[in-house]
Amino acid sequence: MLIPNIENRITLGIVAFVTTMVLLGWAAINEGGRMVALEDTFHARAIEQGASLFAANCTRCHGEDGRGRENFGPALNSPYFFGHDFFPEITDQITRLTTEQVALTAERIRPSVAADRATEIDARLAEIETRINELNAERNPQLQAAIDKGYNPQSPIRLNSVGWGGTLHAYVYTTLEHGRPASISYWPNGPMVAWSQTAGGPLRSDQLVDIADYILNWDKGDNWTLEDLFAVRQFPKVPCDPSNPLSCGIAPAGEPPVGSDVNAALTAIAALTGDAARGDQLYHGQVRSGTDNALPCAACHQAEVNGVGPMTAGTWTRAESLHDGDPALAGYTPEFYLVEAILLPGNYVVPNFSNAMQAGLGDLMTPQDLADIVAYLKTQTQ
Ligand code: HEC
Ligand code: HEC
Repeated sequence: MLIPNIENRITLGIVAFVTTMVLLGWAAINEGGRMVALEDTFHARAIEQGASLFAANCTRCHGEDGRGRENFGPALNSPYFFGHDFFPEITDQITRLTTEQVALTAERIRPSVAADRATEIDARLAEIETRINELNAERNPQLQAAIDKGYNPQSPIRLNSVGWGGTLHAYVYTTLEHGRPASISYWPNGPMVAWSQTAGGPLRSDQLVDIADYILNWDKGDNWTLEDLFAVRQFPKVPCDPSNPLSCGIAPAGEPPVGSDVNAALTAIAALTGDAARGDQLYHGQVRSGTDNALPCAACHQAEVNGVGPMTAGTWTRAESLHDGDPALAGYTPEFYLVEAILLPGNYVVPNFSNAMQAGLGDLMTPQDLADIVAYLKTQTQ
């Protein structure tokens, strides 16, 4: 027997056991480190693969450095894309002031607004305007080089501008997967196509992940500089919304439009004679308005049944009853109700309908068109 003494044998056993545990523990700790190292290598390789896929497929439109190519594709390697705001406090203040401005303006144009309240609102609106101008004057000159290329300083975060709630990685991946076929309407050199094989494109989903990893690798976090912003060659373009022709840059041709000032519009049409028959044709898109637009009213307002909007039949009866004494309409005349419903549909939303009617329709019609439509709607009794 090598170790005859029983106590010594026990001691040796304990020492051996503890040593084994320490070694095992050491290995376990290091295993984690090895995993991280492995993952890093894996991630690095993914980025590398993403880089070569990007060079082969994307630089043509997004530029070799990802800073965009004029009229081909927007910058992805930019503080805007990664959501870095250089003046967050000013952005925030202007956003608040604008929200207040919109609410006060809506209150101001109500016929029921009391005179002293109106004066109070006007004073506050003037203050707000001055303050917004001051804030813009403090910030915008510092960003002028980017503003000249289409950067909107009041909306400095790409994902907020497009209303995307998920991560940037998911945004890139989804854009790659499905493409933006509709972007053909505002990008002269071709739309962003779909790249995934599932959508008929050339790339596998793991390759799309690699490309997304590569793009996200451009993030500089808090270290973005104004030079990075100025180096952008092309910012994303604001897509046009087909339900709002003005956003597509279709300038109203012909006579000046009536706009969205309800009181001014009422004064203007009071001096005109409405032609109900022409109003009928305008409403149904059969003739073009004086601004040379086809009006979409009938698409949402069906004749005898409710569609997206209330049915056309009975519109005047409902205007006269002012939605059966709804206190929100106190002080309205039926004409004011109709004109506001057309020019500023968001101000009062008819119960049981959504706020689906678009603003800006007053930009697609002249005062005469509006007078004709009002005359036509006045024939809609029930
Ligand atoms: C033919 C030109 C073209 C090619 C090639 C192209 N893109 Fe695009 N890409 C565009 C355009 C144009 C847009 C803007 C679409 C829009 O405004 O909705 C865009 C948008 C994007 C966006 C969203 C940007 C944003 O701010 O919303 C990402 C991300 C993107 N492309 C990645 C890629 C990647 C990665 C590749 C290569 C696999 C690629 N694109 C290839 C033209 C292209
Ligand atoms: C995209 C759908 C849509 C289009 C296009 C549309 N409307 Fe509407 N309209 C609505 C909806 C929804 C409502 C009810 C919600 C509200 O009050 O805003 C409404 C409400 C109205 C009302 C109030 C009706 C009532 O019974 O009290 C009038 C008047 C009206 N629209 C006129 C028009 C005219 C005139 C046009 C064309 C110049 C038009 N609308 C285009 C959806 C639409």
